[in-house]
Amino acid sequence: MTTPLLRTALLAGVLAGLALPAGAGSVDKGRTLYLNNCLVCHGMPPDQLSNPSVLAGTDAPANIRHAINSQVQMRHLATLTDTDLANIATFLGKPSTTDADRTFDWGETAYPELLAPAKAKSAVYDGYYYRYYSTTNVYIGIKNGRLYFLDGNVPGEPLDLAPADYYLGQAEAAGF
Ligand code: HEC
Repeated sequence: MTTPLLRTALLAGVLAGLALPAGAGSVDKGRTLYLNNCLVCHGMPPDQLSNPSVLAGTDAPANIRHAINSQVQMRHLATLTDTDLANIATFLGKPSTTDADRTFDWGETAYPELLAPAKAKSAVYDGYYYRYYSTTNVYIGIKNGRLYFLDGNVPGEPLDLAPADYYLGQAEAAGF
């Protein structure tokens, strides 16, 4: 069993060494884009697409681009960027989740000894969207776009680890 301080250093150190992969999609950004650009024709929940399989896997953004280029009614959406389409595709693949929960779910599999037991329930406190892990007595939370870590065994403020998007990229790359 490592000491609490060592655990904190470990988490910060390991996570800080990872780079954000290209093409990571955000469910939350994708949801906003979908609501503003697609909802009017394709409905909510997004079940109106005639062929849901075009939205599966890494081809999904290209398939949306194809629809924009080939469907007269979608031509006005040509200004959406590839990043926009990646975010929309990510949302369409996981419409019922949030970026924070994807990040936490990934963290539980990447750091099972630290974030235990897995499948902790998300909750809100003081602007944090967070999960508490009763076995290890630690918290992870997101507030104002930053990811925080708090070790309940050590007095002090939550530790600001990095931008939440940074970890979201890891979650996305790992399929969450
Ligand atoms: C003005 C109406 C309209 C808007 C807005 C619109 N679409 Fe479409 N879309 C259509 C029509 C019509 C089709 C062709 C018929 C069909 O496949 O359902 C289509 C087809 C598609 C297809 C082809 C395959 C399929 O499953 O139907 C995809 C993918 C798609 N749209 C995604 C989107 C996305 C993502 C957005 C928002 C960025 C969007 N559409 C906005 C009308 C629209």
